[in-house]
Amino acid sequence: MVRLALPRESRAELRPCTQENTLTETAPVDPTSTDAWRNLARIADGFSPDLRGWFDADDGRAERYTFQAAELTVDLSKGLITDEIVANLVQLAKDVDVTGRYQAMIAGEHINATEDRAVLHTALRRPKDGEGLVPPKGFIVDGQDVDADVHATLDKVYAFADKVRSGEWTGVTGKRIETVVNIGIGGSDLGPVMVYEALKPYVQAGIEARFVSNIDPNDVYEKTAGLDPETTLFIVASKTFGTLETLTNARLAREWLWAELGKAGALDDTDEARTGAVAKHFVAVSTALDKVAAFGIDPENAFGFWDWVGGRYSVDSAIGTSVIIAIGPDNWREFLAGFHAVDEHTRTAPIEQNVPVLMGLLNVWYTNFLGAQSHAVLPYAQYLHRFPAYLQQLTMESNGKSVRWDGSPVTTETGEIFWGEPGTNGQHAFYQLIHQGTRLIPADFIAVANPAHPLKDATGDGAGVEPGQDVHTLFMANFFAQTKALAFGKTADEVRAEGTKEQVVPAREFAGNRPTTSILAPALTPSVVGQLIALYEHIVFTEGTIWGIDSFDQWGVELGKQLALQITPAVAGDAAALATQDSSSKALIAKYLELRV
Ligand code: F6P
Repeated sequence: MVRLALPRESRAELRPCTQENTLTETAPVDPTSTDAWRNLARIADGFSPDLRGWFDADDGRAERYTFQAAELTVDLSKGLITDEIVANLVQLAKDVDVTGRYQAMIAGEHINATEDRAVLHTALRRPKDGEGLVPPKGFIVDGQDVDADVHATLDKVYAFADKVRSGEWTGVTGKRIETVVNIGIGGSDLGPVMVYEALKPYVQAGIEARFVSNIDPNDVYEKTAGLDPETTLFIVASKTFGTLETLTNARLAREWLWAELGKAGALDDTDEARTGAVAKHFVAVSTALDKVAAFGIDPENAFGFWDWVGGRYSVDSAIGTSVIIAIGPDNWREFLAGFHAVDEHTRTAPIEQNVPVLMGLLNVWYTNFLGAQSHAVLPYAQYLHRFPAYLQQLTMESNGKSVRWDGSPVTTETGEIFWGEPGTNGQHAFYQLIHQGTRLIPADFIAVANPAHPLKDATGDGAGVEPGQDVHTLFMANFFAQTKALAFGKTADEVRAEGTKEQVVPAREFAGNRPTTSILAPALTPSVVGQLIALYEHIVFTEGTIWGIDSFDQWGVELGKQLALQITPAVAGDAAALATQDSSSKALIAKYLELRV
C-alpha cells in the first residue's frame, strides 16, 4: 500500500513550536496508547460479526442501542457492535477527553491551533433570551461579547430579510425582489443550497433562490438565464471576500446586471447609475467588510460574521441570508433552535447516551479497526438531496488530515470518504456494492415519518401496491427493507429454499453484517434540519478529537489555489510561463491550447 503521510523531516517543518505560538498547546493524547484502543484492536483481530445471532440471543439489543437526541431517534443496533466494543469506545472517548475538549470549544478556547482561533459555531445558535446557558450569557471571547454580536447581526439580517419579503426593499426601478442569487463556494454555498432545498416547503411564494458557485462560466450563465434584472438580488457570500471563484462570479453578475438593466432602459450609462444599481441589487456576507466596500457594496448592506466561524460551520451564520430571505426569520429561529437542542444534548448527555459522540466512536471503530474507508449517507427524503454533498465538505475538509493539532504526525488512519444519494435513487445505482461487494461501507439511513406532501397512488398496480396506497409508506418500506437486508442478509439455504439452481446460489446469497445506523425524525421541519446538521458537526468533532487533529483548519486546499493563480498565464498562452511547467502539465496545457478555438 502507498503511504501518503509526509516524511518525518517535512513534519518537523510543519511544527514550528515556539513559546509564542499556540502550537505549543497540550499535545493530544495518542489514542493508540490507551488500554481501550488495545482492547479494541484485540477484539477486531479475527472479529466475526453476527447480527443475526446477536439479535436472536438478545431481545433488548434494539432498545439498548436506540438513543434520542432532541427529536432524532437514532438506532445503532444494526451496527457491528457488542457491549464490550461500546464500553471500550466509551472509555476511549474518556481517555482522550472528548467532553473536556467540547467544553473548551464552546467556551471559546483557541482549539483551532494552526490558525490560533476559537471555534464557536455553537454560539451562533444560542437563544437570545435563553436562561442557564453554558457558558453564561454575555461571555467574552478575545474581547468580544459573543452573544451580543451574534444577535445584533441576526437582527440586522432579519430586518433586511423582512424588507425583501414584504416588498419594501426594491430594485432600482421600484420592483420587488423575486429572485435571490447567492454567490459563494464551499461553506458559503453548500450549506445555504442544502438548507434551501431541504426547506423548500417553507419558502415564501414569489421568492426563488439560486446558487452560483463554480468558476466555470456556464454556472453564472445558467443561473442568471431568464432572470429579470429589475427583480434580482445578488448576495455575495464569502468569509474572506478573497476567494477567486466567488469574486470572479460576483464581477460577472455585476456586469450582467448593468448590461441587462441597460437593455431594459433602466440604467443610464453613468458611474452614478451603476453604483446606484449595485447598492439596490447587491448585498454581501463576509468577515472582511473593508473588501466588501472595495467591491462597491455599501457596508450598510453587508452582514458580518467572525473568524471563529469556520466556512463549513457557517450555514447558521449570516451566510444563510439567502435562506433567511426565502423561509423567513421565524422559520430561521426554529432552525437555530434545532441546532441548539443538539448542542445541549452533546454538552449534557453522558457519553454512554451521547448520540453524536457514540456515532463518532462507531466511525472510529469502523475506520481504525475494521478497515472501512468510506461512509455512505442515504437520506430517504428527497428534500435532503444535497445533504451528502454538504457533509462531504463538513467531514472531509475537517478530518482529512495527517498531522495532529500540535504538528506531530497522526498515529492512525484519519478521515472517511463521505458519499451518498437519496434513497431510493441510490438503491438503483450503487447499493449493489454495499450489499454484496467486498468492501465494508457503514451507512447512515435518514428518514422522516411525515412527508411535506403526502400523496396516494389511487390506482395501485394490482401486484402488491394496493389502490389508495400511501406513497410515503411505500418509500419507508424501502428504508426498513434495506437496513434489514444489509444487516441480516440471506443465507444460501434460504436462497435454495426458493428453488434457485445450485450454480446461481452464491450470486444470490447476501452475507449480511453490513452496518447501518437509522435516524428517524417526525418531519423535515426547520428545527429537524438544524438538529441533523449539528449532529454531524459533533460527530466530526468527536472523530477529530480521538485522532488528535485540528478539525477546523483546511490548509490542504491552499496549494491548488496558489498554483491555479501561478499557472493562469501559461493557460492563457504565455510561452515563457508554459516553459516553466513540468512536462506533463506542459503537454496537457499545450493540448488544451491546440483544442481551444
Ligand atoms: O476551499 C476552502 C475554503 O476556504 C472553504 O473552507 C470555504 O468554505 C471556501 O473556501 C469558501 O471560502 P470563502 O467563504 O472565504 O469564500
